[in-house]
Order: sequence, then structure tokens, then C-alpha cells
Amino acid sequence: MIECEGLVKIYKTDDLEVVALQGLNLSVKDGELMAIIGNSGSGKSTLLNILGGLDHPSAGSVHVGPWDLLKITEEQLVKYKRETVGFIWQNNARNLLPYLSALENVEMPMMLRGKVDRAYSRQLLEWVGLKERMNNKLHQLSGGEQQRVAIAISLSNRPQMLLADEPTGSVDSRTSDMIMDIFRTLNRELGLTIVIVTHDLSLAGKVDRVVAIRDGLTSTEFLRRNTHLDDAEGFGKGGLQEVHEAYAVVDRAGRLQVPKEYLSALGIAGKASMEFDGERIIITKPKLLEGEQK
Ligand SMILES: Nc1ncnc2c1ncn2[C@@H]1O[C@H](COP(=O)(O)OP(=O)(O)OP(=O)(O)O)[C@@H](O)[C@H]1O
Ligand SMILES: [Mg+2]
Repeated sequence: MIECEGLVKIYKTDDLEVVALQGLNLSVKDGELMAIIGNSGSGKSTLLNILGGLDHPSAGSVHVGPWDLLKITEEQLVKYKRETVGFIWQNNARNLLPYLSALENVEMPMMLRGKVDRAYSRQLLEWVGLKERMNNKLHQLSGGEQQRVAIAISLSNRPQMLLADEPTGSVDSRTSDMIMDIFRTLNRELGLTIVIVTHDLSLAGKVDRVVAIRDGLTSTEFLRRNTHLDDAEGFGKGGLQEVHEAYAVVDRAGRLQVPKEYLSALGIAGKASMEFDGERIIITKPKLLEGEQK
């Protein structure tokens, strides 16, 4: 569904250049429910805005389904945004209208496209648990309820892919769990591909895969799988165990990013020795340099 390779985004302001993404690689399968985590400023929103067609990449390649987002024309982009993606913004005030009801808010984008489907709008609000509140004005709803209206709106165009920027950023943990449940249901029932951006590590356990980005690069990847055990450790035959595995991402050119903590623990800076013993690759502080320093 999503294929980014060497994706670069440079923001130019007056005399300053900010490299928000510096050659990011990411691949997301159709029907996946995954999260992207990273610190503030690591490039998460930048990536999501590019995937959502709201921002143009500077270099590299980015494909979503049949679309090449680097070569796409303005006209195709309108179609892409209308038909392929649903977007939940970091600051949802951007796509909600306070003096309209929840239902009217969901119908608004349909109205702009020229066809309102009331039954579907009601269904969407039911899915996000707002059946009883659909005729309330937006400003009469709590922050968490408004966030759920935003989810319903993002689905109004029946997208294939949902992009959510910090969807649980400003809600309590109960509402956050509820929102994650909604995502899981949409993913399972509609086969929707969902990419969630967050800096909340606790969400990691609630999706299939987590990709960490650091300084505009994919650094590590965590997978969560339910593995069938053959009665190895008393789980019974065919029992399920949840397995978490963390990976460093190796790009096409064979580069991998070593966490800063590992490097500083070994005092590695600038250069490292690398040995291959037939099974493992061992990275150490260069021996000659060590000698020099003595
Ligand atoms: N429109 C812009 N013009 C200039 N620089 C920008 C612009 N948008 C983002 N940046 C810069 O790009 C970098 C990545 O920003 P981005 O918004 O993608 O981070 P983020 O990971 O979403 O952070 P947060 O968790 O705080 O939302 C930051 O250094 C930011 O200052
Ligand atoms: Mg952001």
C-alpha cells in the first residue's frame, strides 16, 4: 500500500533549511494496522502530510497504491485525497465545525463532494460510539467525543487508508483505549490500512507493527505476533504467546542506524571496527584508535 524509499523533505524558510526527512524508508502492506513513533521534531507529521498528499516531497520516492506522489499532478492529487486517504489531524479543530451537529459535521465533506449519504453518516457515528450524541452540536461534546467525530469524518469518503496524527494526544487513557479499539475494528472489519503517528510508547502494544523514526530516518522496527507454541513452555499445544521483537532497519544500500546510547556506551564516534565471524557482525571501537589514545 505504501512504499517510501530515500524520502527527503526539506523545508526552506528565508535563510534556513530544515531537513525534516533525510532519506526515510518505509513499507506498509495493504490492510496493516501500524504505528510510527518518534520524539517531537523527528519528522512524523511531515511524513504523514506527504502520505496524505498535503505536502510535497523534496526527493526520493513515495508510492501509495498505484499513485506516485512525487509525479502526481494537481488534478490527480485532488482525486487521490478524495478517494484514497482519510486523515485525522494532530489538531482536530482544523476539520471540525463547532456550531454544526456531529451528524452535520460528518455530512459536510459528503456535501462538498455533491452526495450526502445519511444512512452511512449515522452508521459511522455508531461505529465510533456516538449514536446517542449525533445531534449534539460539536461544542457540546467533550474533547474525546470530538476526536471520535473526527474519526467518523475521516471515513466519510470511504478511504482505503487512514492516516492519524496523534489521535490520542489530548485524551485520557480510557478514551485512548476506546479510540484504539475503534481503529482495530475498522482495520479488521473493513480491511482498512491504518497508520497512526504517536509519541506514546504504550500504544505500541496495541498495533501489529511499530516503526520508530529518529531524526527523519527509520531506525528500528518492532513486531508483535501471536505465535503458536508446540507445548514448549507449558502453554499447551497450539497455545498462543505474544512475541515482541525489535529490529534495526537495513536500507537498500545496506546502511543501518546504531542507537546513540550503544555508541556512546562504547565510546564510538566517527569510526567503528566491524567484524564478521560467519554468524554475527560485531561492531567495536577501532582497536588502532584505542591504542593511539593511550
Ligand atoms: N512548514 C514547516 N516549515 C519549516 N520547518 C518545518 C515545517 N514543518 C515542520 N518543520 C520542521 O521539520 C521537523 C519535523 O517536524 P514534524 O512536524 O514532522 O515533527 P513531529 O515528529 O511531527 O513532531 P511532534 O511530535 O512535535 O508533532 C522539525 O524540525 C520542524 O521544526
Ligand atoms: Mg507532529
